[in-house]
Amino acid sequence: MASYDVIIIGSGPGGYVCAIRCAQLGLKVACVEGRDTLGGTCLNVGCIPSKALLHASHMLHEAEHNFAAMGLKGKSPSVDWKQMLSYKSTTIEQNTKGIEFLFKKNKVDWLKGWGSIPEAGKVKVGDEVHEAKNIIIASGSEPASLPGVEVDEKVVVTSTGALELGKVPKKMVVIGAGVIGLELGSVYARLGAEVTVIEFLKFVTPGMDGEIQKTFQRTLKKQGLTFVMGAAVQKTDATKTKAKVTYKLLKDDSEHVVDADVVLVATGRKPFTEGLGLDGLGVEMTKRGQIAVNAKWETNIPGIYAIGDVIEGPMLAHKAEDEGMAAAEQVAGKHGHVNYGVIPGVIYTHPEVANVGATEEMLKEEGRAYKVGKFSFMGNGRAKANFAGDGFVKILADKETDRILGAHILGPAAGDLIHEICVAMEFGASAEDLAMTCHAHPTYSEAVREAALACGDGAIHM
Ligand code: NAI
Repeated sequence: MASYDVIIIGSGPGGYVCAIRCAQLGLKVACVEGRDTLGGTCLNVGCIPSKALLHASHMLHEAEHNFAAMGLKGKSPSVDWKQMLSYKSTTIEQNTKGIEFLFKKNKVDWLKGWGSIPEAGKVKVGDEVHEAKNIIIASGSEPASLPGVEVDEKVVVTSTGALELGKVPKKMVVIGAGVIGLELGSVYARLGAEVTVIEFLKFVTPGMDGEIQKTFQRTLKKQGLTFVMGAAVQKTDATKTKAKVTYKLLKDDSEHVVDADVVLVATGRKPFTEGLGLDGLGVEMTKRGQIAVNAKWETNIPGIYAIGDVIEGPMLAHKAEDEGMAAAEQVAGKHGHVNYGVIPGVIYTHPEVANVGATEEMLKEEGRAYKVGKFSFMGNGRAKANFAGDGFVKILADKETDRILGAHILGPAAGDLIHEICVAMEFGASAEDLAMTCHAHPTYSEAVREAALACGDGAIHM
């Protein structure tokens, strides 16, 4: 038995970042992880592997569609799926080993096994019970199940199985037009699969700005994805190699069946708290099955904290990281803080989608007076040179004060471009502040400046 200042349960982006920050603040810290490798869902079966496949499939798309126009001749590459999976595994390994190195460097003990909390101040891992003045739960989330749909991770898969398919399917049905469905759906569409996305709502990516939703769906349609909107999936019937997906159209209640080689279920995730012993401890939960915490990430049990996907808020790696750092600071007697109003969201398709702050729909609902500055990537020289003119930057600013309230980008490197707006928002900047900042030419970032200019006297290149 060992004794620690802090034991963190889970080594995903929330847990490992929290562990490192605790160590940096002089605390004796251990992190419990039951997987063979560190990094949680994000590094092992989520963000990182999916980005490897998104990158590889985008390269193929470029070769097939744009190389000839640039004077790059020759046969387009064909897909060596085994090698692509091996590239993906190498990427995962480099990242998970990186965390192991950081743990050693910062003297964070890795307690290998699945942890539970028999009582406050104690964490059980395997047969050993360790003492901890503070326990931070960072056990993440798992795919939510859908009634009538049985996942076998071969034919009917979650994102985990979708990253390990035996081959590129001919026909893929994706249930849910959220982030996972569209990222992985577009990977397989680019690799040659016929992809049909079935979505309950009338629009894709719930919660995003309406104008972005429409343009994004149109862009994906142009890339070959088929959408069935306003449709509730009722069930799947799978054999070892194929599946039938039954759905009902909400507008007329009619039932339809579609065939698939692989069905990806991407209808949301739920907090993963199984086996922690929370019931026995009397940890308070929200109605949605999340661990209830206060503004310092404390649960109702003294000395037990929770961060990341197990608590409320968007299930995003970077939100968990921020909470991890802030909770570590709280435990160390400092004043960790997270600005939940400035958390970017990114969809890593091509083009990418990124957003921060309020949507136009939210501002309308609040009855707030606002102005919109928009700029199309068609007017951006760099984007045109790179065959990346699809999409736009949209900045929403307060009509009176010009303070930036939100931003929405569909376009090249949107996930990187969004951050200058995040920084501006952190500093309470106005659209004019952004517009007056010199931006290097020729860069995609100029489109952000132009959108800021469009909030005032007007964009130059439009
Ligand atoms: P999601 O919540 O983003 O989307 C699920 C979609 O499924 C919704 O549009 C919903 O209307 C639809 N749906 C639900 N039941 C249905 C049914 N019976 N028939 C048809 N459609 C149905 O969930 P997703 O994509 O599974 O992602 C889970 C979580 O992981 C999200 O919180 C997401 O933010 C996070 N994530 C974030 C990524 C990123 O930041 N790039 C990447 C991957 C996941």
